[in-house]
Amino acid sequence: MKVLGIESSCDETGVALVEFQADEPPALRAQALHSQIDMHQAYGGVVPELASRDHIRRVLPLTQQVLAEAGCALSEVDVVAYTRGPGLAGALLVGAGVAVSLAAALQRPTLGVHHLEGHLLSPFLSDDPPSFPFVALLVSGGHSQLMRVDGVGKYTLLGETVDDAAGEAFDKSAKLLGLGYPGGPALARLAELGDANAFDLPRPLLHKPNLDFSFAGLKTAVAVKVAKLPPPLTEAQRADMAASVQAAIIDVLCAKAMRALKATGLKCLVVAGGVGANSQLRSRLNRECRRISARVHYPEPALCTDNGAMIALAAAMRLQRGLAATDESGAFDVRPRWDLAEL
Ligand code: KG4
Ligand code: ZN
Repeated sequence: MKVLGIESSCDETGVALVEFQADEPPALRAQALHSQIDMHQAYGGVVPELASRDHIRRVLPLTQQVLAEAGCALSEVDVVAYTRGPGLAGALLVGAGVAVSLAAALQRPTLGVHHLEGHLLSPFLSDDPPSFPFVALLVSGGHSQLMRVDGVGKYTLLGETVDDAAGEAFDKSAKLLGLGYPGGPALARLAELGDANAFDLPRPLLHKPNLDFSFAGLKTAVAVKVAKLPPPLTEAQRADMAASVQAAIIDVLCAKAMRALKATGLKCLVVAGGVGANSQLRSRLNRECRRISARVHYPEPALCTDNGAMIALAAAMRLQRGLAATDESGAFDVRPRWDLAEL
């Protein structure tokens, strides 16, 4: 069965083709991605209307590219999957509208996919896939959650951020240091040159026994420390601040992920979402998991941030297990706000 996946929830247009046989793990045949980062950079963040318009321009050429690379005719596609939410309403509507139109023309069903389910299952496309059950640390630009995952669609929320997401903490701190948008990767690069102990920053909720996060205060602490330094900041001060912020975020994410493993008694951790690309976070989690004889799994680096492959994969895994409510009505909606635990 061949599943075409379309992702358009934010600032990346992603299209991919995933194929599966009855019981075998789904395989990625081809994928293509267009990032809008250059376009939004001038505004310091995503401009929703510009994002929607750009998705319209990109989605069909990317689809043609994916099908050509996979050597697959459009008529061979069995199901058209798309991101139904959460995300920007206008951006989601583009992907959903194109998916439903394509499917209607082909007389094939559609399947609306939860974006975070895509992130969460994306390590199943890696060379080292996890097996159920596991604890998932979902850390993206909009979400920071710990979930217990007992199977496809069996998600129990263990804890989540009460304010900003980890990605937001990276992005907002990066902005305060004059780094571009999105700031996460730039801040991580600058942090390599700095001293993580240079600035004493808070580790919010670290010592609370729950599995929740809070990152809004961290950004405020960075703003206060930066304001106290005589401007302009030196390169060394910026690098030290970047390293200190990154260390604070990683300390909290690691401590809570380890606590979630302990609380559930599970020995398998999956890390997904854009912040999961952070190499310091990965080496710290690798070390801590080794210490307690737990396994940790990540998506391939290219599949950490938004992409079409994870959407096609999540649809394929649901179809394989008979868990998919496909639609042939030609009607569709999007869910800009949508809790994963609702699935
Ligand atoms: O999952 P994602 O692509 O989009 C959402 O669904 O939100 O995550 C994007 C987030 C951004 O906040 C970005 O700054 C962050 O992931 N990010 C990183 C790194 N790469 C992306 N944060 C820290 N270190 C990185 N290497
Ligand atoms: Zn995402």
